[in-house]
Amino acid sequence: MKISKVNKLEGIITVPADKSITHRAVMLSSLADGISEIDNYLDSADCISTMNAFKSMGVNIIKEDKRLIIKGAGLRGLKKPQADIDAGNSGTTTRLLSGVLCGQNFSSTVFGDASLSLRPMKRIIEPLRLMGADIKAKDDNYLPMKINSSGKLNSIEYTSKVASAQVKSCVLFAGLYADGITKFTEPEKSRDHTEKMLEAYGADIKVSGLTVSVKKCEKLYAQNIKIPSDISSAAFFMVAGCIVENSKIVIKEVNINRTRAGIICVLKKMGAKVTIQNIKDISGEEVADIEILSSSLKAVNISEEIMPSLIDEIPVIALCATQAEGTTVISGAKELRVKESDRIKTVASQLLKMGADIKETEDGLIIKGKTKLKGAEVDSFKDHRIAMMLSIAALIAEGDTVIKDSDCVNISFANFYEILKSICR
Ligand code: S3P
Repeated sequence: MKISKVNKLEGIITVPADKSITHRAVMLSSLADGISEIDNYLDSADCISTMNAFKSMGVNIIKEDKRLIIKGAGLRGLKKPQADIDAGNSGTTTRLLSGVLCGQNFSSTVFGDASLSLRPMKRIIEPLRLMGADIKAKDDNYLPMKINSSGKLNSIEYTSKVASAQVKSCVLFAGLYADGITKFTEPEKSRDHTEKMLEAYGADIKVSGLTVSVKKCEKLYAQNIKIPSDISSAAFFMVAGCIVENSKIVIKEVNINRTRAGIICVLKKMGAKVTIQNIKDISGEEVADIEILSSSLKAVNISEEIMPSLIDEIPVIALCATQAEGTTVISGAKELRVKESDRIKTVASQLLKMGADIKETEDGLIIKGKTKLKGAEVDSFKDHRIAMMLSIAALIAEGDTVIKDSDCVNISFANFYEILKSICR
């Protein structure tokens, strides 16, 4: 994709549905008794990996315009897949699904693409083994991963070293099948969609501070839900609105769940003109319209406590920091090294090519602003969030920017370039 500098951004846009919630809605609806209707789901490559996995285990999933109709197989009604399960690029598919697979009475194998095959699975293998699961993985940490299930699991009380919603959800899903009450404690609060949705689908689940407990479950009940827009996709346009001069963008009905909305706090601290309007509830999630105006920005410190609520937004926040006066220090973000790419390395190396003053640290980034960016040939490393961040950087860079493998935006945001074009003036 070749992108040149723009004069301003202007418009009212709607970004696609939340990726995390779509994965969970497909999984829980597949495991429920009855027919669920999921309105405004995300039809992106990652969520398609989840849909295909459940289809391969006999779940009937039909796409109807912007809706998914899922005839659940029941918690114990999945069938052994004919082939190994391809999770594609999706960490969420792999880790959440593994919790479910451990509760079945058939064996299965999960594999993924080159990027996913480098991502650590020990974090789920460890608690799942404590629950009695028999798992074999490459080097005991990587895909492909074979799960030999007997359908018997015991509950555990587990304290995770990482604040990861994927690990939490994996253990909670396995907990639906485990005798007794499974308790999961995390070091910081990670996104809480699984807890909310398990409750809505009828599981016996309790949240107390950083601990979530779930009881063995006989039945989940089909639900009709609507999925709000993804703040992680809105983030690119929030930052774009701040850093491109004379801009005004409104993003409609974005999920502003507290466990996801760290970027709003950070942008406000940086002095961004961000306003939250028309707050309402959609299927148990708080949503709002977000208005962003071009802003004079100042540097901030972003550290570990807030990280889980904005982890996927760090690449675009780093870009934002290149346009802020002063030194922004991002720390406590070593999880970024095990995302779709090593995002500390990819963000620093590619923004450096565009003229930013940015340095890698072991667990974060140090960015000095404000710097003028220049067009360059940059690489997304097939990481969707890096491709989108670089596309936004290109809007303020002198000359042309060419982004390699930009089509990876399909992982989470298939019409990203269409929406971007519609607001460029
Ligand atoms: C996700 C959790 C986060 C996030 C990922 C989606 C989820 O990962 O980075 O994009 O849907 O649970 P971790 O759980 O590894 O932090």
